[in-house]
Amino acid sequence: MNAAMAREGSPSVIYRKDYQAPRFQVPTVAMTIAIFPGYTRVSSQLQLQRSDGSVGDLCLDGESLQLEAIAIDGVDLSPDAYDYNGSQLTLKQVPASCTLQTTVIIHPEDNTSLEGLYKSRTLYCTQCEAEGFRKITFFPDRPDVLSVFTVTLEADASTCPVLLSNGNLQSTTTLDDGRHQAVWHDPWPKPSYLFALVAGDLARVDDSFVTASGREVALHIYVEAKDLAYCDHAMASLKHSMRWDETVYGLEYDLDLFNIVAVDDFNMGAMENKSLNIFNTSCVLAAPDITTDAGYQRVEAIVAHEYFHNYSGNRVTCRDWFQLSLKEGFTVFRDAEFSADMNSRGVKRVEDVTFLRTHQFAEDAGPMAHPVRPDSFIEISNFYTLTVYEKGAEVVRMLHTLLGHDDFIAGAQLYFKRHDGQAVTCDDFVTAMADASGRDLSQFRRWYAQSGTPELTIEEAYDAAQGRYTLTVRQRNGDYSEPLHIPLAVGLLENGQPKVFDNGSSTVLLEVTEAQQQFDFDNLSSRPVPSLLRGFSAPVRLKAEESSSHLQALIAGDDDDFVRWDAFQRYATQVLGQVAAGDTLDEGFFSAFGSALTAIKDPAVTAQLLALPSEEYLADLAAASGGVDVFAIRNAREQLKLAIAQRFEDRWRALFADLAITGPYEPSGPQIGARSLRHLALDYLAHLPDAAVADATALFASADNLTDRLAGLRTLVHYGHREARESALTQFFNDWHNEALVVNQWLSVQAGRPAAAACDEVAALMDHPSFDWRNPNKVRALLGAFSAGNPTGFHRTDGAGYRLLADAVIRLQASNPQIAARLCSPLTRYRRYQHGVELMRSELERIGNVEGLSRDVYEVVDRSLSQ
Ligand code: BES
Ligand code: ZN
Repeated sequence: MNAAMAREGSPSVIYRKDYQAPRFQVPTVAMTIAIFPGYTRVSSQLQLQRSDGSVGDLCLDGESLQLEAIAIDGVDLSPDAYDYNGSQLTLKQVPASCTLQTTVIIHPEDNTSLEGLYKSRTLYCTQCEAEGFRKITFFPDRPDVLSVFTVTLEADASTCPVLLSNGNLQSTTTLDDGRHQAVWHDPWPKPSYLFALVAGDLARVDDSFVTASGREVALHIYVEAKDLAYCDHAMASLKHSMRWDETVYGLEYDLDLFNIVAVDDFNMGAMENKSLNIFNTSCVLAAPDITTDAGYQRVEAIVAHEYFHNYSGNRVTCRDWFQLSLKEGFTVFRDAEFSADMNSRGVKRVEDVTFLRTHQFAEDAGPMAHPVRPDSFIEISNFYTLTVYEKGAEVVRMLHTLLGHDDFIAGAQLYFKRHDGQAVTCDDFVTAMADASGRDLSQFRRWYAQSGTPELTIEEAYDAAQGRYTLTVRQRNGDYSEPLHIPLAVGLLENGQPKVFDNGSSTVLLEVTEAQQQFDFDNLSSRPVPSLLRGFSAPVRLKAEESSSHLQALIAGDDDDFVRWDAFQRYATQVLGQVAAGDTLDEGFFSAFGSALTAIKDPAVTAQLLALPSEEYLADLAAASGGVDVFAIRNAREQLKLAIAQRFEDRWRALFADLAITGPYEPSGPQIGARSLRHLALDYLAHLPDAAVADATALFASADNLTDRLAGLRTLVHYGHREARESALTQFFNDWHNEALVVNQWLSVQAGRPAAAACDEVAALMDHPSFDWRNPNKVRALLGAFSAGNPTGFHRTDGAGYRLLADAVIRLQASNPQIAARLCSPLTRYRRYQHGVELMRSELERIGNVEGLSRDVYEVVDRSLSQ
C-alpha cells in the first residue's frame, strides 16, 4: 500500500474463496413503488425461507435507504429488533419462514451515480447490475438469490403515462389526484440485478416476432417522441437476433413481450433486465445523419448482446460476481458470431483482434491485470473489464475451436438445460462442455485462473532429406503460471500456395499443452512457409520468424484473413522501426502495399490491410520491449504515412474518386467497405502538403450521411489549417446542435486533434453549453476521447493533459464513481512510458489524497500506485 493512500477504514477486499451460499432464499417479492415529485416510496414484501430451516439473524443489503416501516408477518418490529448502519440491515432471531415488509423513501432526483433508481432528464429508470438494487429496497442483493417479482408502479399519469417493469402487464388502474398504477408480474425467477422499472413520457415503436414454435411476441421500443424515426435499425437487429438464437443455439424467447427503452444518461451501453432491456440512446438510435457505419454495427451487436443474455445470463445466471465472465464472455462470443454471420466474418474478426490486442493486452500488462475469473475485488463495478469481456470471449472461442462447432453447441445446450433457473460458475460451464464432448478440459480451466497474456515462441526446422518440417512451440505465462492448453491453428504454404491437409482443409489444429512441444509435418518436398495462429486461434503474443520473404509470402498467398492482415501489420511495424532508426526502408513492403492497392477484391478487407497499426497498438508493443515514447511513435507513423501517400498518390486519388457512392446511403456491407477504403485514401492524401483540404471540404459539404461528414470533418480538424478547422467545426455544430449524439462526435473530433493545444481546447469545451458533467456520453466523448485516444495531446510534456484528467476524475468521483474510475485508466499505466512517469504518478497521488474518495476510484488508484 502506498503511504499516501493509507487511511483509516480503507475499503475492504472481497475474495472469491470466501463465497458462502445464501442463508435465506426469497422465493417471491411483491413491491409497490410510488413515485412522487422529489421522492419515491418503496414498499417490499419478501417471502423469506431460511435454507437450513433454523431461526437466526438475517442480513440484508440496503444502501442509504430512509427506513419508514418494518414488520415481520404483519407485526411491526421494535427498534431493538433490528440494526441499520446505512449499508446493511441486520434482523435478530428471524423465523425460518416468514414475510418481511419494509417501506423506505429514496430520492431518484438526487441520484447522480446512475445506479439504482434515478432520473434521466424527465424519465425515471433503473440500473441494478451489479449492486444497484440495494439502493432501491432492502434485499439480499446477490445473484444467487432468485425470486419471482410482482411490481406495482404508481406515478402521475400526465408526466409518467408509461409505467414499465419486467414480465407481463397484469393490470392498470386510474387512481385519485391524477395518478395511475400498473402491475407487472415476471414468472421467471431472477436475481435482483435483473430487476428494472421505467416511468415517463415515452413514444413507442411496435413490431412482432413469431417464434420457431409459432408463438407471437410483441416487440416494443420506447424512446422520446423526437426519436421515433430512429428505431428501425434496432428493431430489425432484434428480430435478426431472435431468429439467430433459434437457428444456431435452438433457444426461443420465453415471454410474450420484449421491451427496449432508450435513456440519455447511462453509465454503460445497455442492460439486459429481463424483458425490459434499457439502452443508452447511443446504442439503440440509428439514422444516416446521426449514426456512423460503425455505429450501425454497434447498435446491431448490442441489441443482439442484450437479447442473447436472456439465456446466457438470465435463465442461467452467475453464482457470484467473480463469475461475471460466465455471462459476459460467453455473450460477447455469441454476439461476435452473430455479427460475423450478419456481416463479413473476416472483417469482424480482424476488428475484434485489433481491439483485444490494443486494449486488453495493455490491461493485462498493467496494474489492473486480473484473471478472466478474478480472485478478489474492492468494487465489482471496476471488474467489468476488457479481460472479463474480451479475453473471456476468446476463452469461449477457444472451446469452440477445440471442440468443433457441433460439440460446442451440444455443450451449450447441455449447459442451458442442466442449469436452467440456476446461478452457476465458470467451472460449471466448462464441465458441460467437457461432458457433451467427452474431452478432458482440466488443463483448459487454467485460462480462467491465470492473468497475463501468454507468449508463444515458435521455431521452425526443415529436414530436406526426410521431407520433414518441424515446429517447436514454447509458451511462457509469467512467473507463477503453469502451461495452458492452447489451440494453435496452423497452415503451410508450399511454393506460395496453401497446402491442403488430410482433413480436406488448409488448417490443422495443434493442441499445445506443454511448456515446450514439437510438431512434425511429413512428406514436404520443399521448405514451407508457416501460417501461424490462423483466425487468431488463441489470445497470445506470437513470436516467430519474421523475414520479409516470409511476410511477403503470407501477404501474397495465404488464405486466412487474419494471418494475411497480421503479416501486413508485422511488416508495417518493421518498416516503422526502420523509419525511426533512419534506416533505408524495405522496398518489399511498398511493393506488397502497391499490389494490395491495385488488386482489390473486397474494399473493407483492403482498408484493414492498408491501415497502419495504431499508435496505441504500437505503444503496447513498445511497452513490452523497453518503454513507450509516444512522440517517437507518432513521428515514425506520420512519416511512413507521408511516404505511402507520396508513392501512391495517383492510386489514392483514383480510389477516392472511384469509390464515391452515387445512390442513397445504406449501412450495407458493400457501401461500408467502399466508404472505409475511401476514407483511408483521404487520410493518406491528407499527409501531402495541403493536398486534401479541397477533397475533405467537398466530402464534408456534400455528405448525405454522418460517416462521410465526419471523415471530412476529422481530416479538416486533424490535418487542415486553422481556418479550415474552425469553419468546419462551426458549421457542423450549427447544423447538428439539436442532436445530442452528433454533438458527442463533434466533441470527440476536437478532443482527438493530435496537437498539444488540444488539451486547452478540451478544457474550453468543458464550459461549452452542450457539455454536461452528469451525462456519461458527454464525459466519454470529450475526456475519454482525449485521454485514451489522443496520445499527442494527453502526453503533452508539461503534464497539462494529466492534470486535466485528474481534475475531471476528482470532480466526478463523488457524483458518479463508476465513470470516474473508468476515466482514470489512461493514468494508471504510467509505468510503461519513457516520459511523464513522475507527472502521471503525482496526479494519481493527488487523486488518492482526496478526502472521502469513493471506493471505485480508490481501488484503481491504489492498485496503480502500489504495484
Ligand atoms: N450487463 C451489461 C451491462 C452492465 C455492465 C451493467 C456493468 C452494469 C454494470 C451488458 O450486458 C453489457 O455487457 N453491455 C455492454 C455492451 C456489450 C455489447 C459488450 C456495455 O454496456 O458496454
Ligand atoms: Zn453483457
